[in-house]
Amino acid sequence: MRRKLAAGNWKMNGTAADLHQIDALAARHPVPSVDVLVCPPATLLARMAGAVADTAITVGGQDCHQEASGAHTGDISAQMLAAAGATFVILGHSERRTDHNESDALVAAKTAAALAAGLDPIVCVGESLEEREGGRTLEVIGRQLDGSVPDGVPAARLVVAYEPVWAIGTGRTPTIQQIEEVHRFLRKRLTERLDQQARSVRLLYGGSVKAGNAADIFAVPEVDGALVGGASLKAEEFSPIIAALEQAR
Ligand code: 13P
Repeated sequence: MRRKLAAGNWKMNGTAADLHQIDALAARHPVPSVDVLVCPPATLLARMAGAVADTAITVGGQDCHQEASGAHTGDISAQMLAAAGATFVILGHSERRTDHNESDALVAAKTAAALAAGLDPIVCVGESLEEREGGRTLEVIGRQLDGSVPDGVPAARLVVAYEPVWAIGTGRTPTIQQIEEVHRFLRKRLTERLDQQARSVRLLYGGSVKAGNAADIFAVPEVDGALVGGASLKAEEFSPIIAALEQAR
């Protein structure tokens, strides 16, 4: 059985002044029946890891370099994230694919590096509006999935997040049917590659998840949780999303 996962991505938001949000979240969810993860900016990772040490919440990174160490100014390795207290790392987010020109091959190399460092990767895929309107959604997502997940990945440690680019931070979400179509496609494609092991891969939806739409999204077959941006920044907004996931069947 796959354990459900509510993951927050703080993106480039938050300083030490915002750490009280994580205390408030932990206080609201002392014994969650789903996994709860928050991925703060790297500057906050160690402090947030300390803040959640005695709680059920875990912390993760938002990206890592594909190498363990070396002359890469400004970059952070998976080993460094793990040493700072991370247990997960988001990889191939569309903002990194766009802002930093990350290719599927690079995301696959980062995913392998994360696994080697003991971090569980959350690999993101998702089509642009142009690609969706051009009827190329499944083609694009299939290519991203195949290219971004390295061979030999332990399925139980892999998380794949479907984040349509046009739904991120826009307040627009796909229809329930569209989410279901993509998630079923992801499971099928993973099964072609990983056989029965594919059943262990957790599939998240991300893009404008809010308290008001979470229950509907979590009722979609093959949706094992959410990757939440804006609504994860405040405990009072993230908490009802976690509660909705706990109540989902
Ligand atoms: P929003 O929830 O702000 O739309 O962001 C989604 C996202 O990109 C999470 O990684």
